[in-house]
Amino acid sequence: MKTIIEQIDAGQLNTDTIKKAGDILKNGGLVAFPTETVYGLGADALNEDAAKKIYAAKGRPSDNPLIIHIADMNALDKITETIPEKAEIAAKEFWPGPLTMIFQKADIVPMGTTGGLDTVAVRMPKHPAAKEIIRAGGGYIAAPSANTSGRPSPTTARHVEEDLTGKIDMIVDGGAVTIGVESTILDMTVEPPMILRPGAVTKDMLERLIGEVAVDKTLIEPDSKKIPKAPGMKYRHYAPKAELTILEGDIYRVTEAINRLAEAKINEGFKVGIIGTEETIERYSAGNVKCIGTRQNEMTVAGNLYGILRDFDSDGTDYIYSESFSSGGIGNAVMNRLLKAAGHHLVHV
Ligand code: TXA
Ligand code: MG
Repeated sequence: MKTIIEQIDAGQLNTDTIKKAGDILKNGGLVAFPTETVYGLGADALNEDAAKKIYAAKGRPSDNPLIIHIADMNALDKITETIPEKAEIAAKEFWPGPLTMIFQKADIVPMGTTGGLDTVAVRMPKHPAAKEIIRAGGGYIAAPSANTSGRPSPTTARHVEEDLTGKIDMIVDGGAVTIGVESTILDMTVEPPMILRPGAVTKDMLERLIGEVAVDKTLIEPDSKKIPKAPGMKYRHYAPKAELTILEGDIYRVTEAINRLAEAKINEGFKVGIIGTEETIERYSAGNVKCIGTRQNEMTVAGNLYGILRDFDSDGTDYIYSESFSSGGIGNAVMNRLLKAAGHHLVHV
């Protein structure tokens, strides 16, 4: 299959590109497009055959449900059985934006989209190109992250090309995304509502608005034998090919330990990557050192995380050592993804 790639400027949307993307979607094809979190791989969510093509292109397990993306609040009624009041409040505040909510699904939503579940995940993205492509494609676009299953999510169109060229109809290139980690997933079918995946909309932000919010236990206790409630969270996701170790503790001791570990592996003949920050980058003496952002603003860390993991993949890196990040704000989502990428290999120094 030939994959069309077209660039789009978020400030001045090219209507031809939007129309082309919309027509492909309406005809049951696949279009990757930018959202503010990560690039999505879209298909008509109400067309079971179209949604199924997503699983084939990504190599995604068929029990892993898709998020339906909408562009207008009045689209929510048709695909949900009921809309709890707290969901309406959260939508008013955080939609469009990096929040996905789970509802009881209406019959019109095919099981092929929800991975056989009777619930449906819905998000209204903020990116102007995403919004217009959703509208042009019929209003209900199923879109997982546009990566091959198991690879880090794409934060640029280049990442999508790496994974999906020849497997999908079109890639709309809107430049680098602004957030860089996937949306917060909030299950509204339980009381209190429960976070199934942390993202840019944090527990604190939600609790200020709708009261108590629970967190899926498997996010807090990684050794728990329980199965995560978001089926996708059980896979070793976000994973680079290299073995990743995260070091936590006093930042001075962390940098010393990373230097020691890196030197030992380099002496054994391995390729080593180091993930440091603006505050520490000067302290590293060996290996391929990459600056992930500043601790003063962990949004910068979120924005660079997946790109750096992919860069280490293309460099053929064998071992990666990373500093750890705070458990507040977006740092929580960053640590969740880093820990998964590391297979929970965390060392305290
Ligand atoms: O930011 C995002 O959410 C991006 C952009 C493209 O919107 N999308 C994304 O989709 O991250 P995906 O498919 O990579 O991750 C969706 C997650 C998976 O872990 C899936 O298991 C979970 O959402 N999920 C979807 N529907 C669900 C449902 N009904 N119940 C529980 N979890 C669900
Ligand atoms: Mg994904």
